[in-house]
Amino acid sequence: MFQVNGNWTTKQMSEEVLIVGIWKKEGFVESVKELDKALKGQLTELKKQNAFPKKQGEMTSVYTMGLIGAKRLYMVHLGERKEFGIEELRNCVSKAGKRLKSERVERAGVLLDSFITDTLTLENAAFGVGEAISLSTYEKRTYKEKSNEPIKTLAHVTLYAEEENALTQQSKRGYTYGEGANVARKLVNIPGNMLTPTDLAEEAKAIAKTYDFYYEVLEREDMERLGMGALLGVAQGSDQPPKMIIMRYEGNPDTDDVTAFVGKGLTFDAGGYSLKPAANMHTMKGDMGGAAAVLGAMKIIGEEKPKENVLCVIPSSENLVNGSAVKPGDVLRALNGKTIEVRNTDAEGRLILADGVAYAKQLGAARLIDVATLTGACVVALGDVTTGAVSNDEALMDAVIKAGEKTGEPVWQFPNNKAYEKMLKTSDVADLNNAPGRAGGSITAGLFIGVFAENTPWVHLDIAGTSSQSNDSNLGPAGATGVMARTLARYIVDRG
Ligand code: BES
Ligand code: MN
Ligand code: ZN
Repeated sequence: MFQVNGNWTTKQMSEEVLIVGIWKKEGFVESVKELDKALKGQLTELKKQNAFPKKQGEMTSVYTMGLIGAKRLYMVHLGERKEFGIEELRNCVSKAGKRLKSERVERAGVLLDSFITDTLTLENAAFGVGEAISLSTYEKRTYKEKSNEPIKTLAHVTLYAEEENALTQQSKRGYTYGEGANVARKLVNIPGNMLTPTDLAEEAKAIAKTYDFYYEVLEREDMERLGMGALLGVAQGSDQPPKMIIMRYEGNPDTDDVTAFVGKGLTFDAGGYSLKPAANMHTMKGDMGGAAAVLGAMKIIGEEKPKENVLCVIPSSENLVNGSAVKPGDVLRALNGKTIEVRNTDAEGRLILADGVAYAKQLGAARLIDVATLTGACVVALGDVTTGAVSNDEALMDAVIKAGEKTGEPVWQFPNNKAYEKMLKTSDVADLNNAPGRAGGSITAGLFIGVFAENTPWVHLDIAGTSSQSNDSNLGPAGATGVMARTLARYIVDRG
C-alpha cells in the first residue's frame, strides 16, 4: 500500500491525485513552490484569486493539465502551522482520504513535507498519514443485492519526501493501527444473526492463527466445571452456546508479567426479562464492541511485536429470553465464589465480565484493562466523544489516558469513592446487587467489575457511547468506530 519516494521530480509523479497541504500564513513551502513552478505559476494565480479554502481540512481539487505527472491536486488548508499537530494531521488527511474513497481513486500521493511543522516530524506525519488513510477509506459492508459488486478502492499511496526507509516503516505502522480499528469496526457492524458467540470465537481464532498467538476457547461444560456461574447465568436464556475466548501473545518469554485485556462480547443484548424497549434494540448487535476493540488491538500487537506479554479474555454470549432465562431476583455464583443477585437482567455486561476478570486473574494477569459497551448512563454523561473510565490504580489509569491522547481517543476517569462501592452491597440475599439504580450508573457498573479485579491494578473503559457514531465523520462512516483498539495497542507498545 505505502511507498516512499525520496528523490522525486514533478514529472514522474504518476498518481491520479496528489495531496498537498497549504498553511494559513506561511503559504507555500519549498516543495509546493516547485509544483507551482512546474504548473507555470497556476497555484500562485489561484491563491491570488482566493480560490483556495480558508478553513482547516477544507480542500479544493486542481487539475494539472498534464504539466506534472499527477493528474490532480487536492489542495488542503491546514490552518495555523503552530497549532498543527498529529490530531490535526489525522483529521486533514482523513478528509482527503474520504474524498479519495468517494471518487474511487486507486493511486494517490502525499506531498509529505507540506504537512511538517517544528514539532511534527516527518516520521510522525508518515505514521499519521498511514493511520488516516486506513481509517478514512474503511468501507462498511452491506447486504444489499448490489453491494457485493467489486468496487475500485485505494491501492497505492506514495509519500513524497526526502528520505525513505524510516518513513516507509512509519506509514506502514500507522496503516496497521488503522486496520486494527477497522477489524473492530467490521465486527461491530455485523448483524447479530451473522455474528454469534461461536462466530466471534472463529474470528478470534483466525487472528490468533495469523499471528501465531496461543488460542483456546472454553465451552459451556468447561465453564460449568470451573464455576463461571455469572457468564452461564446470562447465557442460559439463549440457544447459542456461550464462549470464553482466550488468546495470548508472548513477546517477552523472560518474564511472567502479563497485561490482560478483557472485552465484553455480547453478540446481542435484548435485555433479557428486563427487556429493552423496541425503538433502539437493533443497535445492541454492537454490544460486543469491547471484544472487538480487544481483537483489533491484538491484531496491531501481532504486527508490532512489542517485547510484552498480553492475555486476551473475551466472555461471549447473547442476552435473550427463553423459558430458562435468568430472572430478576435470581442469584448467581461467580467464578471467584461471590454471589450476585440479578436485580436487572439487562445489567448483563458486568456479570459476564465478572467471570472474565476473575479468570484473567487466575491466568496470572499482573494488570487488567476491561473494555465494554456497559452503560447507557455513560452515553448520557460523555456522549459519543469520550470513553468513560473507572480504575483502582492511578498509574495505570494515567498511562491509558496518555495512550488515548496520542491516539486521538479521549478517555475521562469517573470518581471511585468508597461510597459508590457500598451501593453494590445492597442485596439481602447475595454479596452483590447487579443493578443498584440509576444514580451514578456508570460508576457503580465499573466498580462492580472492580470487585472482581480485587487488588490487581485495573482500568475499566466504558465505550457505550464511543463504540459507534450516528453520523459519518472524517475518520469513517456512521456505525462502528473501532474505538480503543488503537489506544490499547498503543498502551502496550509504549510500555515495551
Ligand atoms: N449494553 C447495554 C449498555 C448500552 C446502552 C450500550 C446504550 C450501548 C448503548 C447494557 O448491557 C445495559 O443494558 N445496561 C443497562 C444497565 C442498567 C440495567 C443498570 C443500562 O445502561 O440501562
Ligand atoms: Mn444490557
Ligand atoms: Zn449489554
